[in-house]
Amino acid sequence: MEPDNLYAARTPLISVRDLRVCYAIGNPILKNVSFDLFAGECLGLVGESGSGKSTIARVLVGAPISRTGTINYAPDAGTRRLEFCRWIQLITQSSHTALNPRWTVFETLREPLQIHRRISRVEFRREVENLLESVRLSREIMDRKPTELSGGQKQRVAIARALAVRPSVLICDEITSALDPCMRREILELLQNLRIFHGLTFLFISHDLPAVKFLSDRIIRLEAG
Ligand SMILES: Nc1ncnc2c1ncn2[C@@H]1O[C@H](COP(=O)(O)OP(=O)(O)OP(=O)(O)O)[C@@H](O)[C@H]1O
Ligand SMILES: [Mg+2]
Repeated sequence: MEPDNLYAARTPLISVRDLRVCYAIGNPILKNVSFDLFAGECLGLVGESGSGKSTIARVLVGAPISRTGTINYAPDAGTRRLEFCRWIQLITQSSHTALNPRWTVFETLREPLQIHRRISRVEFRREVENLLESVRLSREIMDRKPTELSGGQKQRVAIARALAVRPSVLICDEITSALDPCMRREILELLQNLRIFHGLTFLFISHDLPAVKFLSDRIIRLEAG
């Protein structure tokens, strides 16, 4: 079967039609944006700086941005806010600002477990250890704060925090852009493994075309919104 037919036979997890976003009246940042995200795929989203990629990411996770058009989510996304937040997770580029500077890695990873997962207090530590292992971080960093971590380690902690709630969809917005080539490669391989072993669906947003090509099954390009 041709790739297009292959996707036509499947129901999308997220279906976007005619999305239009205006931050200022009369000046749409996004217009006529339509695409589908299918279960298990990695969809690459590329486009020039300022073309609206991060805006799409924020709209998809339900940020309060005024928009028109339709976004349909699969039924397992749930109807309540908490269920939805668990279903879809966004990881952004700025892992250093995304992590609470006052919290240790343990505290950072414990928070989503407390909110979203019904596990006992004694299980927190084991679950945090499992999460660190899944992003290939040593459990020795558990008591460190963000200032005591490298850029790549912070990015891994941010990925582990997103994984803590066991999401179905992961949106990665420029998460490898601030890393050196070696660390970038490691994070990309990690994402590839997560996709294979956890069956995650990815929307992978990046300027870095080789990175997008490495991970993605399909690539869409945003041009002037
Ligand atoms: N909250 C906001 N209020 C007003 N304008 C905004 C806001 N957020 C983004 N913009 C504008 O919307 C446009 C798209 O921004 P966005 O961050 O979505 O682009 P991007 O494609 O992610 O860019 P980059 O590749 O640099 O990350 C830009 O012109 C930006 O200045
Ligand atoms: Mg952006």
